[in-house]
This record gives sequence, structure tokens and C-alpha cells, in this order.
Amino acid sequence: MPMITMKSSGKTVEAAEGISILQALLAAGEDIAHKCEGKAECGSCHVFVHEGRKSLSKIQRLENERLDSTVGVGSGSRLACQAKLGTENITVELLSN
Ligand code: FES
Repeated sequence: MPMITMKSSGKTVEAAEGISILQALLAAGEDIAHKCEGKAECGSCHVFVHEGRKSLSKIQRLENERLDSTVGVGSGSRLACQAKLGTENITVELLSN
């Protein structure tokens, strides 16, 4: 099972392979913005993935288009609602809170 570490707090949560970062963080009780409820429409769940990026699902067209119009995007940017976990642990930086 992959683990998600939040860079700011250092807190780590266990997650299931194949679910999105958003689903995993919400299930763990984390406060992460998700205004469109995971439809890749709002960009509010934007996170930076610092470690383990390659194990995540590939960026699809919808996510790519949304990131194109999101402020502050960098090379580690993903939408937490679209990026699905693989087998590796990841470290993320939450930007919405
Ligand atoms: S929750 Fe809206 S883009 Fe992810």
C-alpha cells in the first residue's frame, strides 16, 4: 500500500493503490479543497508532488487542460482528483490550505 506524506505537516497516511490522491486524503480526514468534487473543472485540488511522481497515473487531456489555466503550476503539479496512486509512496505539498 502506498503512503502519502504531506510536506508541510510531515503527516503520513496510508492509501489504496488505484484511488486518487484526493480520495485518499479525504478518507484520511485531511482538509483539501475540491470545489468541483473531482471533475477536473476547478483546479482547487492542485498539489505539488515532490516524490514518487512517476508512480502516479499519467496526466490525461482533461487534467492537462485544467492545469494550463491554473495559477502557479510547476513541474510537480497534479490535480489531486485526477492523479491515481501507484505502488510507490509519494510526498505532496497541499496548496489550497
Ligand atoms: S476537485 Fe476540482 S479539479 Fe480536482
